[in-house]
Formats: sequence, structure tokens, C-alpha cells
Amino acid sequence: MRISGLNETDTAAIIELEEKCFGHTYDLPPLTPAQIREILSNGFIYGIRNGKQLASVIDIEFRKPEWYVNGIYTHPDHQHQGLAQQLLARVILEARKKKVPKITATVHPHNATSIRLFEKNGFLKTRFIPDCYGPGKDRFVLELRLQRKTPVQKPAAKKRKRLK
Ligand SMILES: CC(C)(COP(=O)(O)OP(=O)(O)OC[C@H]1O[C@@H](n2cnc3c(N)ncnc32)[C@H](O)[C@@H]1OP(=O)(O)O)[C@@H](O)C(=O)NCCC(=O)NCCS
Repeated sequence: MRISGLNETDTAAIIELEEKCFGHTYDLPPLTPAQIREILSNGFIYGIRNGKQLASVIDIEFRKPEWYVNGIYTHPDHQHQGLAQQLLARVILEARKKKVPKITATVHPHNATSIRLFEKNGFLKTRFIPDCYGPGKDRFVLELRLQRKTPVQKPAAKKRKRLK
């Protein structure tokens, strides 16, 4: 199964997959076509298909200078096959190539699978935000720093005086 860039023609399939993946554990309203349009105009969405059906998706928003993982989800029939890992690894690779300094994500504190996925890829929990999306909707912020702020500079070697 290959990774491909998704576009507006995939809107219905993305929404259907997102609802299926989050199910009753969902504490945010489902994605809307307007939100998908917004992400596509200021970010990108990658997916992996199984035949014609979408199996896994990652949505990335550009929050200059960093990238934000707005969502990552895999169809229950295809979980534990490494699909989310493939998508996240590809995004990290592209961010490195484009010299993006940081990728961030917010994850529900009880979402152990997702936290493990991010931590396995080098993300660190940097903050806990109580009531992040409303009462009781707490989140961890996870961050992957891709570049040092200031490169370590070697002191310039002193020039030796030439002996005549
Ligand atoms: C979190 C989520 C996206 C992970 O998707 P996934 O495609 O199953 O992820 P992966 O397969 O890459 O990794 C998941 C686990 O499968 C394991 N795995 C990967 N390939 C495997 C394989 N071939 N055989 C067995 N296990 C495998 C991974 O090691 C990982 O295990 P771990 O959690 O114990 O480390 C998925 O569980 C999901 O959609 N959850 C609901 C939505 C959600 O919570 N999204 C995150 C919001 S921030």
C-alpha cells in the first residue's frame, strides 16, 4: 500500500474514515468539508489506500514556522499494520527536507497507542493542557524538534604569526 496526497475529491472518504476511527471515544465534533478545505489550502493530507478504500490518513496544518498534526487515524481493520507509522515517518522526512524546525501534536491523555506512536518517532511530551478543547477535554502537547536553534560554532583558530 502506497502513500498518496489526498485532495478535495477525497473529502467524503476522509470524513467517513475519521468517524469510524474515533467512534464513541471522540470528544470533538467530526471533521467538516470546510475544515478539510482549510487544511488543504494551508497544509496537506496524506493517505494510504487498500484498493479504493482509504485505510489510514494524516492531516498536517502549516502553523508557521512549525507543522501541526491535526489528525492521524487508521481504519480499525488495518490497525497494527504499521500504516500510521509509515505516514508519520514520511511527514517527518519531508519536514526535515524543508527545514521545518518543529512538528507538534495534541493527544488525549488516555490515548496510549497514539502517544506511543509519537514517542517512538522522537516526539516528547512538553505540556499538559487541562480543558484544552473545553471542560474535561484535556490534551498532552507532543513536540518533535528537528533543528537546533543555534548551531554550535567552533571558535575560529588563531592565526599563527609567520616566522620570517
Ligand atoms: C493511533 C492510530 C492512528 C495508530 O494507527 P496504526 O496504523 O494502527 O499504527 P501502527 O500500526 O503504525 O502502530 C500501532 C501499533 O501496531 C504495531 N505494529 C506495527 N506494525 C505491526 C505489524 N506488522 N504487526 C503487529 N503490530 C504492528 C506498532 O508497533 C504499534 O504498537 P505499539 O502501539 O504497541 O507500539 C490508530 O490506533 C487509530 O486510528 N486510533 C483512533 C484514532 C486516534 O486516536 N488517532 C490519534 C489521535 S492524536
